[in-house]
Amino acid sequence: MSRLEELRRRRRAAEEGGGPERRRRQHEEGKLSARERIELLLDEGTFEEVDKLVVHRCRDFGMDSQIVPGDGFVTGYGYIEGRLVYVFAQDFTVFGGSLSETNAQKICKIMDLALKNGAPVIGLNDSGGARIQEGVVSLGGYADIFLRNTLASGVVPQISAIMGPCAGGAVYSPAITDFVFMVDRTSYMFVTGPDVIRTVTHEDVTKEKLGGSETHNAISGVGHFIASDDAECLRMIRALLAYLPSNNREDPPRLATNDPENRMDPRLDTVVPEESNLPYDIKDIIHWTVDDGVFFEVHAHWAKNIVVGFARYGGQAVGIVANQPAHLAGCLDINSSVKGARFVRFCDAFNLPIVTLVDVPGFLPGTDQEYGGIIRHGAKLLYAFAEATVPKVTIITRKAYGGAYCVMGSKHVRTDVNLAYPTAEIAVMGPEGAVNIIYRKELAAAQDPAGLRERKTAEFRERFASPFIAAERGFLDDVIEPRETRPRLIRALRMLENKVDTMPRKKHGNIPL
Ligand code: HXC
Repeated sequence: MSRLEELRRRRRAAEEGGGPERRRRQHEEGKLSARERIELLLDEGTFEEVDKLVVHRCRDFGMDSQIVPGDGFVTGYGYIEGRLVYVFAQDFTVFGGSLSETNAQKICKIMDLALKNGAPVIGLNDSGGARIQEGVVSLGGYADIFLRNTLASGVVPQISAIMGPCAGGAVYSPAITDFVFMVDRTSYMFVTGPDVIRTVTHEDVTKEKLGGSETHNAISGVGHFIASDDAECLRMIRALLAYLPSNNREDPPRLATNDPENRMDPRLDTVVPEESNLPYDIKDIIHWTVDDGVFFEVHAHWAKNIVVGFARYGGQAVGIVANQPAHLAGCLDINSSVKGARFVRFCDAFNLPIVTLVDVPGFLPGTDQEYGGIIRHGAKLLYAFAEATVPKVTIITRKAYGGAYCVMGSKHVRTDVNLAYPTAEIAVMGPEGAVNIIYRKELAAAQDPAGLRERKTAEFRERFASPFIAAERGFLDDVIEPRETRPRLIRALRMLENKVDTMPRKKHGNIPL
C-alpha cells in the first residue's frame, strides 16, 4: 500500500468511527454523530480537524485489537459567522465516547491553542465517562482538562453542549464552563447515577428525572438552555456567540440595526400598574426597548424571579439583569442571587455593559432561605455588582427596598448611570411595615388604630415611597418618562463606551462562595 493510500485508509477509518451499526443506533436515539454536529455548528466547510490520526495506547482488555484513528473524539477549529472557534465533539459510537488518555490530550491541545489565540472553546459532550479500560490514566486526563477549563475561565468564552450522557466527575468540566446547553430527552448529567442512588439512599429515580434537561434547567440551575434537538442546540450556540467577544481583551461584536435609537414607546408609560402590589412582566420592558425586540434569555427556566440575558441597544451588546415582579413579586432569594451573580461576573469578565432593571420588594423571608444561607448567597450578588468595572446603567421601575436597593446596581456600588421611573419607590422598607414599626406605641394607644395606620401609611408613601428623595441626593442621576427608556439607555451606554475603572491590586478577591 502506498503512503498516500495508507493516509486515505486511516482518514476513512477515523470518519467511520464505531461503524454503520453504532451510527444507526445513534440516529435511532434522535442523536446526530459527532461529525454531523460539528458540520451544523460551524460555517459550511470551515472545519479543520486536528489529531485525526491519534490512537489510544491501552494494551489491556484486548484493546490493542480495537483501534480507531481519532480515538472517538473529533477536535479542531473552524468559524462561526466568520469568527474563529475551537471545538471538540465526543463520538459515542467509539467506546461510548469515553475519555482515554490520548483524547484528553487532544482536548488539551485545542484548549491551549484557544487560550493563546483568544477564541471560544465549544465542547459537544456525549460520553460514558472515563475509559474504564484505562483507569487512572483517564482520570488524569479529566483533571488536565479541568485545569485548563479553570485557566481559560474569564479569558475565552467556554460553552458546553450536553448531547447524550455526561456522568460522574466528567460533569465538572461543563460545570466550570460559562454556559451549559442540554438537549431535551437525549441528554443527562449526574455525579452518581440511579443505580448508585438506589443502593445508597434507597431512592428510586429515572435518569431523566435525576439529571435530564428539565431537571437541570428548572430545578438545579446547572443547565442554562434547553434545546428540542441537536440541530436546535447548535443553532442556539451560534446565536449566543453573536453577543460575545472572542476573548477578554476584545469588545463584543456590534451589529447594525434599523431600529431607531430615539424610538419612544408610549406603552412603557403604563406598563407599571398604579396599584403597587400588582404584578407585570418585566420582559415587556426589555422587549419594547432593545434593538428589534430581540432578547436572548439565559437560565429562562430557573429562578424566574430574576431575568438575565443578552440583547443590543443601538448595536451595542449588553447583559440585562432584571427583577421579575410577575414571579415571587420579584423578591431576591438564594437561587436568583446566584443566577444574577454568575451572569454579572460573566458580563464583567467579557466587557459586556450591564443594564439593570429594578423592581424588588426585598429578600424573600423564611426559615428555608435563612437556613439555606441567603446571607451568603445574597452577598454574592452584591459582590458581583460591586466588583464589576464594565459600564453599568440601572433603571428603577418600581420597588427598591432595603438591602435589595443597595445590591441591585445602586449608585453606591459604583454604577455609572442611575435612572428611575416616576413610579419608583425607594425606602428602607414598604410603607405598611415602616408604619407598624415607627408608630408602634401610637398605634397601640390609638382609639382608631386602623384609621391612624391608614393615614400614616399614606403619609409615608407620599413622602418616602418615591424616587425624589434619592434624586435630591444624587443617588439617581435623573427621573425619566418611561417612554424615553430606549433613547436614554442608548445615550448612557454611548457616553460610557470608553470607560476605564480598576480594582485594587490583589491576587483575587474572596467572593462568599
Ligand atoms: C469504555 C464504554 C464506557 C466507558 C460505555 N462504553 N461507557 N467503554 N469506558 N466508560 C462502551 C460500551 O462498552 C459499549 O461498547 C458502548 O460504549 C456503548 O455503551 P452501551 O452501554 O451499549 O450504551 P447505552 O446502553 O446507551 O448506555 C450508555 C451508558 C453506559 C449509560 C453511558 O454505557 C454506561 O453506564 N457506561 C458506563 C458509565 C460509567 O460508569 N462511566 C464511568 C463514570 S465515572 P460496545 O462495544 O458494546 O458498543 C467517570 C469518572 C470521571 O467517568 C472522573 C473525572 C474526574
